[in-house]
Amino acid sequence: MLSAQKSSARLRNLKWHRIRPKIIEKSDSESKYSPEFASGLWAIVSPYHTNERLNENIPCLSSSKLKSDEYKSYNHCLGRRSLRKNSTFSIDSKSNTDYDNAKPFSQIPGPIGLPYLGTLFQYRKGPFQRFDIDHLKDAVIARYRQYGAIMKETVSGVTVVHLFHPDFIRTVFQSEGKIPHIAPLMETTQRYRKLRNLSPGLGNSNGDEWYRLRSAVQQMMMRPKAVTAYLPLVNEVASDFVDGISRIKDSNGDVPNFLNEIAKWNIESSGMTCFEKRLGCFDAGKDSLPQKMIDANSEIFRLSTVLKFSVPWFRLFQTPTWKKVTEAEDFFFGTGQGFVDECVSEINRISERGELTEDKFLFMAYLLSRPELTYKDISIITLSLFGDGLNTTSPTLLWNLYCLAKNQDVQQKVHEEVCQVIPENQPITAEMINKLVYLKAFVKETFRFYPIGLDVARVPQENLVIGGYQVPAGTHVEMNNFVLFSLSEYFNEPEKFLPERWLRGGDAQNIHPFILTPFGHGPRMCAGRRFAEQEMYVVISKLLQRYRLEWHHEDLNQKFQMLMIPDKPATFTFVDRHKN
Ligand code: HEM
Repeated sequence: MLSAQKSSARLRNLKWHRIRPKIIEKSDSESKYSPEFASGLWAIVSPYHTNERLNENIPCLSSSKLKSDEYKSYNHCLGRRSLRKNSTFSIDSKSNTDYDNAKPFSQIPGPIGLPYLGTLFQYRKGPFQRFDIDHLKDAVIARYRQYGAIMKETVSGVTVVHLFHPDFIRTVFQSEGKIPHIAPLMETTQRYRKLRNLSPGLGNSNGDEWYRLRSAVQQMMMRPKAVTAYLPLVNEVASDFVDGISRIKDSNGDVPNFLNEIAKWNIESSGMTCFEKRLGCFDAGKDSLPQKMIDANSEIFRLSTVLKFSVPWFRLFQTPTWKKVTEAEDFFFGTGQGFVDECVSEINRISERGELTEDKFLFMAYLLSRPELTYKDISIITLSLFGDGLNTTSPTLLWNLYCLAKNQDVQQKVHEEVCQVIPENQPITAEMINKLVYLKAFVKETFRFYPIGLDVARVPQENLVIGGYQVPAGTHVEMNNFVLFSLSEYFNEPEKFLPERWLRGGDAQNIHPFILTPFGHGPRMCAGRRFAEQEMYVVISKLLQRYRLEWHHEDLNQKFQMLMIPDKPATFTFVDRHKN
């Protein structure tokens, strides 16, 4: 392995302009970096990652195995109860004979709709409307109540089989193999990226293309140790966020529309992780660039929801709504691409001066060091880490703060644990995070009460028997676990907010391992999970060290905008613990 100094010397000789085409220009950006360049960078970044760079397997596969072992112990714990459960539903299997003997796909129950458009008009204003899209969660629950644990429905040309039983969910996950296929996470994003000739990214690709991208980032995004390298940056931004609350709260301690403040924290934190650049979000006014990015992002999600439940003309023509989506995407991605380009130039400058050390530009230098990634890939992976948290980590954090404010006894326990583990005014370390067991149980319970996603999707590549029905390879399957979260069949006293249920000695061993999977499961599990969890643990801890959170307003409810966001602006009251 080359020393960092030697590699920097090699880097100095590289011509960056040749390997740095702009992503938006449909240029030759598929071309790969020169192997010398990539291996030079690898020599610098590898101390932070791993010594093995070739033929890496995706470790999630071993986590699938773990889950299946967990499942065995779950079955063991339940003993006869699990047998009774299984007897209600035919035991799933996928042998050819079982498949041939199963009931045909056409008999899977579900609502009957129009050709192609299916039940679309049940979700749209008009004489056939049955459901309000804002309350899609209730619509899915209503389907479960009417049709049972497996049902199928066609909306706008897409037929989806919905699963509402953890054993069925297990069947799908355990048959997915090394390269699970999915439907795109968001159709509009997939179309936009195609339109602009961008890399589809992880959540919009399948097969070998997905495997190539995922293998390239697996180690650095999913290995907990690799992610802790970003803790100093995460700490810095979280501290500034907490300090900033004292400036924005009014004399009652209230901060209105706190989701927007969380979004600023999120984008500031992601800016540091991806580009090691402070974006100045905490001082950002209404017309500032970060605020415009936050607004553009939420517009993309609002309009994508509208399109999801419209007659899908946008698949054929540039409808006005689709044009607005592309404008918002252009703004978001264009600005983000500028950050990527700027960051790469800076790496270039400092490497030319021989000053690129292993602790600088961890994320980007790692990506640049992977010879199998094109500049397009690097851009889309970085922009995913930069932008995805806005729609996922931000609302998740909001629901966590809401649960703390609404459950003062739980807040007290989390606070006590934080005080015990983390000395005040000290950076939070990986060892400290490991000890925050109650906080982690609390976050899980919040996912149960306020899931932010309504489904995890798969397109199985082999025929399956689920619930006694044939589900042919290539079917779009959605697992809607959230429907089970409030059922006493699966949770003791489901209406109670009880983080204790997830602790050792609580109910945890009786909870089906395939029920609460907020980040999905297996090789396609959320690629940002470790980053999201780390950021949430740090920011919640720091907030509670300083403030007690209170809620003095009408209850919040969840509203569907591709993911679940609050149905109204959330005003939290922050009571400074040091002033009492
Ligand atoms: C609390 C926050 C988050 C939640 C609850 C969440 C949830 C999910 C879920 C359920 C999936 C589908 C997994 C599956 O199919 O098995 C997913 C996929 C994904 N998530 Fe997240 N996510 C979060 C944050 C993030 C962040 C911050 C990023 C930024 C990197 C991210 C990037 C991705 C990507 C790239 C995929 C697609 C992975 C693949 O197909 O290989 N997520 N996420």
